[in-house]
Amino acid sequence: MIRSKIAGIGKYVPENIMTNDDLKEYMDTSDEWIRERTGIQERRYAHRTGETTTTMAIEASKIAIERAGITAADIDFIVFATLSPDYYFPGCGVLLQREMKMKEIGALDVRNQCSGFVYALSIADQFIRTGTYKNILVIGSEKHSFGLDFSTRGRNVSVIFGDGAGAVVMQPTEKEKQGILSTHLHSDGESAEVLAMFNPGTHANHWNGGKVLADFKNAPIGEMFFSHEMVEKAQVFPNMDGPAVFKKAIVKFPEVINEALTKNGYKPSDLDMLIPHQANLRIAQFVQQQLGLRDDQVFNNIQKYGNTTAASIPIALCEAWEEGKIKEHDLVCLAAFGSGFTWGSVLLNW
Ligand code: ACO
Repeated sequence: MIRSKIAGIGKYVPENIMTNDDLKEYMDTSDEWIRERTGIQERRYAHRTGETTTTMAIEASKIAIERAGITAADIDFIVFATLSPDYYFPGCGVLLQREMKMKEIGALDVRNQCSGFVYALSIADQFIRTGTYKNILVIGSEKHSFGLDFSTRGRNVSVIFGDGAGAVVMQPTEKEKQGILSTHLHSDGESAEVLAMFNPGTHANHWNGGKVLADFKNAPIGEMFFSHEMVEKAQVFPNMDGPAVFKKAIVKFPEVINEALTKNGYKPSDLDMLIPHQANLRIAQFVQQQLGLRDDQVFNNIQKYGNTTAASIPIALCEAWEEGKIKEHDLVCLAAFGSGFTWGSVLLNW
């Protein structure tokens, strides 16, 4: 039976460290507030002009490709997950294909926010299982620091997010106890507006219970998508109802992890490592407690990098592996929850 395995993994985080105290220069916040609520101590911010979502992805990809023992020319498909692309369109996948001088292969961009990497991995898994491709590059990368409200108004969101990238090369395997066992994807659009960035967009205030987002009735036709008013009223930043996200996340994380374990005849105690999306340390701790997992069964690094959305799982997976916390044949679960809401899990043998 053909399964897909992670043949190489890499991560890249920018050099520039932004501590909680550094953020006090821009907004009314404190190290104590941020640590207590989120566990975050510092995060990385990409170089303002020298780095983009794609350049960080390229750095992570080079490492993943080298560790897989292949070259960029061997990659036969790209799946790129991000919510902070270099351009509104085209997606980052083609920029990476161009810059890494890859062949004229398919490049797919995935927009599933915090669960983007899990969705991306599930797509790669299907293409490998069917025998369509042999070397798929799957990436999660974000440059959040370019699109956050750094005033006190946006502090509940901006203190959480950081920049970085992670990448894996997926290949087929027929070995016992190796590769992805199953993937599980879900969504519930009922709360789409709870964690969202509305503009620029084509919504024209159609959704969100008629809540006025901008004065579209009087807007010139050329300013419906992106207007001066949106910029003046700071409507071009992410919005989040933090407590609503927290409440749903702590239910859906354990549910989708248990779904993956049950499907394959395992219990939480069988897990060697859980890599939860690094949303918030409090969420990860709650999930750990709910599943009755020991500290050595869960890996967290949000303390150093903040929430890097689509990049958080591959960065954490890479770091856990580099630190020797994941070994051959280990049973590993990746689980994510985020905007949409969308959530999912991947169960694999390393
Ligand atoms: N510094 C200081 N004070 C702040 C900050 C800040 N950065 N942000 C908000 N506050 C204030 C608020 O203004 C509010 O003040 P008030 O009581 O005077 O009105 C007070 O702190 C409490 O605000 P809440 O938003 O209710 O704070 P809460 O305790 O819920 O914590 C948080 C906010 C950390 C966002 C929490 O709700 C949370 O963790 N939610 C989960 C969301 C999450 O993890 N999102 C990650 C992205 S989505 C994902 O990856 C799944």
